Parts: sequence; structure tokens; C-alpha cells
Amino acid sequence: MWRLARDISKKNNHIGRCVRNVTGSSVRINNASVTSIDYFTNTSTTKLAGVSASDGMRKFSSMVAQRFEEEPYESAIAKGYDSFEAMLTCGGDDRSLILESSTNKYHIRPQPVDPDHVFRGSCTGNPPTQRGYDAAKKLYETLNSIEEGSLDSAIADVFADQRNRISNVLQLEEGTEVIIVPSGSDAEYLPLAIARSLKGNVPISNGITQLREIGAGSAPAAVGEYFSTHAPLKGKLSDDVKYLSGFEGLDGINIPAREQNGDAIDASKKMDEFVTTSLAAGSYPIVHGVFGGKTGIRDERMPGSMDGGETSLGVVDACQGRFSLNELHGWLKQDSIVLYTSSKFYQAPPFCGAVIIPPKIAAKIRNSPGPKEMMSLDGLGGFLTDKELPDCLENWKPLLQKENCANVGLALRWEAGLAGMEALENIPDERRTEAYKEWADAVATMVKKEAVLDPWCVERSIVSIRVSKQADDGQSWLSMSELRDLYRWMSMDISNLVPGATDEEKNALSKPAYIGQPVDVAESHAIVRIALGVESMLSYFENKDETLQEDQITVLKLAAIGKHFNTLKQSGI
Ligand SMILES: Cc1ncc(COP(=O)(O)O)c(C=O)c1O
Repeated sequence: MWRLARDISKKNNHIGRCVRNVTGSSVRINNASVTSIDYFTNTSTTKLAGVSASDGMRKFSSMVAQRFEEEPYESAIAKGYDSFEAMLTCGGDDRSLILESSTNKYHIRPQPVDPDHVFRGSCTGNPPTQRGYDAAKKLYETLNSIEEGSLDSAIADVFADQRNRISNVLQLEEGTEVIIVPSGSDAEYLPLAIARSLKGNVPISNGITQLREIGAGSAPAAVGEYFSTHAPLKGKLSDDVKYLSGFEGLDGINIPAREQNGDAIDASKKMDEFVTTSLAAGSYPIVHGVFGGKTGIRDERMPGSMDGGETSLGVVDACQGRFSLNELHGWLKQDSIVLYTSSKFYQAPPFCGAVIIPPKIAAKIRNSPGPKEMMSLDGLGGFLTDKELPDCLENWKPLLQKENCANVGLALRWEAGLAGMEALENIPDERRTEAYKEWADAVATMVKKEAVLDPWCVERSIVSIRVSKQADDGQSWLSMSELRDLYRWMSMDISNLVPGATDEEKNALSKPAYIGQPVDVAESHAIVRIALGVESMLSYFENKDETLQEDQITVLKLAAIGKHFNTLKQSGI
């Protein structure tokens, strides 16, 4: 078994695994060091720290440490998480790092939430579900017991297996290929690299839609910029780098999701104009459509690739994972590249993504040279190794090949995501559609009954809600910063902070309920979201009434916070 090398040379600035025998070393995990923040707190501190209840000590054995894993791993361990949980946060960008708060920047812990709490926040990032946590832990334990020197090949096998399982669950046609990527944001680098591979050194223009309702990193990534302070396989970046090496000189346009008044913008027409002007200017256009952004809105049309990718590349951002198999297969038939994650609807921990390549494009890339200039460690090599790549990218593999380098954290997160995907696999789309429609109707009806709430936008399994506030100038709505407070309070027991609340309100205020983060959608207001994820959909199939009771208490809590917002604000929490 490997042990974590705790004194990895900081001078060692190439990616490489550093293994050292530290047999018998142990680390004192102090429960007291785990701060009692309410967010996603798992009540079981024994599990959290991995501490043996008898002596407060645990054997410190872990996966091998690679240079890029040092910071996330150590940050998580410093907050009392065990080796497996720390490893769940490795191999991503800054969004996965455990901060002073003992959570990542989205207030998420690498542990399942307390089963007595309500979880309806499956849109930006999720803590692992119990199902996902168990599946990932099983993989971790297997990997932790393999022989020294075999991690690279073991992880290559794991990713190959995961690509196969993704293909099976999504029923992908033969010839369709899957690239595993660290997140939906860095998935945006792949169409650029594919375009370079197919078309050589032509100017490339990338058109993005639904700005502000896709990931904040998607737009910069779509023109080859870094979107984080960290790259998954490099760790912290130096302050002066802006573009990935080999990705300079790309241009593009961004179309916002909404007008200032909150009306959705039909980007499809603007994308048609973008294609025409790009082609006229001698550029190769990459054209996006978003199939469900943060509030679930979908662009009118999902773009295909023209002439099988000869003239343009169509990209469907389906990162929310809220689509039917028919819809997915339709995009692939029109040769669109599909961006996907299992860390939204399917509730894998943050973050893990995939790029699905349609058969015609896969066949073309197979016969094209790899875009060598994009593949260094300062380029795509900071995000991918050869192990995440499918067969059609055989030409790319030598360019990305890394010995002693394996993104274990990403493999663990995908294992958790696949556990969710496979749990729902046998429920046909018709039943899922029927269920989320019924659920969304029921939740919207609950919201409408509350005077201070408005179901502003209902799209598939996401109900976006605005909350009114008592203002001198008549009715107005809580702003983005006010909803940040509300979002935080939703996850806490705040029943003792509102003396004037009714018993029903106090009951709701006492229940931690994790909802989707606020989104700034209009000049006049922002919204928060109640979103059905894989686990709540499964629980809806199992016990509709019980599931809707959880939604009811979430809605009552939102309303009580809205009604008593000023009191809560004055309490200083
Ligand atoms: C539609 C859409 N695309 C892309 C992303 C970015 O994905 P990730 O958070 O995995 O980087 C998001 C994130 O919320 C999203 O909603």
C-alpha cells in the first residue's frame, strides 16, 4: 500500500508522482478542529474525521500524492476530513478546494448531508449522495490497495470502464466516443482543440449563448482563457498567465441569457448571424446551444455541425444533465458535440464532466493529427492526461501522455456520478418526464400559495423563485446579495431568531434545507432555485407524498424567511 508522501519537494515543478514510505506515520485528527458551521454539516463527526472513537487517532494511510494534489489534499486533511474525502477534492480547480469554512466556495463538504435535512440544490454543485459516496469509497479502497507503480494503468482502466458505462447508460450509438474532463467549464477547451485538429491553423470563432446562466468559467474557457486560479493537473497558476498555451488568438461572441428586464433572449437567430459573418470573414465557427442553463431555459434550437464538421462545429451544452435520451440522440445525429456533467442533476461531488463526440466527427478526428501546440502542461495538458481519452483520440495520446500522473479525484467523482446515473437507468424517459412535470406543478402551486413568493420561472426540474420584500416604495424583490443571506439561512436552524414567528413557521425555520444558489436574472430581482436531482426523483418514485412534504417545508421556510427577512438581518447572523 502507498502512503502519502508528506514532504513532496516544492521544487519539483514537473508533474510527477512522489511516493515515499512513511509506514506507521499517523496524524492526530482533532474533532474540535472541525468548525461547527451549519452548511452541509454531517452530524457524524466520527465519520467526518475518520477517527476511531476509542482513541481519537487513525492510521494515516492514503493514496499516493501527486504534486497537483498537494494543496487540495492538505487543505481537506487540515479540516479533519479523511484521506478518501480529501482525495474527492483533488484534481479539480479552485472550486473544489476546502477553505477556512471547512467547505468549498459553494459551502459544500465532501460528505453526504444529514439524511434528516432536505436537499434540493442539484444545479451548481452537490455534496456526494450517500450512494455516490459509497461507490466512490469502494473505488478508492480498491485503488489504495494496488501495487506500487501500477496506479497509471489502474486509472487508465477505471476511466475506460467509466467511459463504457457512460456510453451504456446514455445508449450511445456505436462510434460515438466520450472524453472524461474535470468539469463542464473545462469541457469548453475540447471543441477548440477538435476544431484545430480538424481544420489546422485556421482562425476559430466561438459563439456562446446564455451568458450568466451557464458556468461563470464557460465563456472565458471558450476562447482559451483560464477560468480559475488553479488547473486540475498543475495546481495553482502563476498570476500572469491568461491563456492556455496554444489557445491564443481565438475570438468569439457571448449572447446573454436574458434582457435586463429578465426576458429570455432567443439566441438561435443571433447564432445564425454569427455563423454567416464568421464564414464571410474566413473564420471557422463553433456554435453553441444551451439545453438548460441555471434556470433551466433552453435555446430554441440546438446547432448541428455543418458538413460533418467541415464548415462549422455545433456544440450542445447539456451540462445540467436534464434531457431525454431521444433529445441527446437527436443532437448526435446532427453531428453536434455534447458537453455533459454528472455533477448537476446526477449529484456527483464537484466537479466532473464529459465531452460526447458524435460518430462522424470521431471518425474524422481519428484520421487527423493531434493539435500538438495545445497539448503541453501549460495547455490542455494541465487538464487532461492520455487516460481520459477515447480511442478516436489515439493521435492525441502521445502528446498528453504522462507517466506517474493520474487524476484519481476525478475518477472518484465520476464513480459517484455514475452511481446516480445507473440508479435511474431503468426508469424510462416517459416516466421521468411525467414525474418532473407533476413535481414542478406541485411545487409551483405550493409557492403560489405563499404571499411573499413567486414561481418566476419553471423549467423541467428547476423551479426558480423570487421573494418579495417589505419596501417603502411598494412591492419589490430580494436582490442577489439579500438572496445570498437567505440561501445561507436556508441551510441553518434559525427558529430561535424570529420570536414573532408562528409555530408552523418556527417548525419550517428549524429545518436545514439546501436549495440552488441565487442567480441574478433581472435588474429588478434575483431568484433562488428548488431543483429535483437524481436522489429526490428516485424518492419521488418511491414515496411521492413524503417527497412533496420535504418540498412543502422548503417552501414554507423560504416564505418565513421572506416575511421575517428584516428581523433575521437585524439578528446579525
Ligand atoms: C449549463 C451549464 N453549462 C456549464 C456549466 C459549467 O459546469 P461546471 O460547473 O461543471 O464547470 C454549468 C454550471 O452550472 C451550467 O449550468
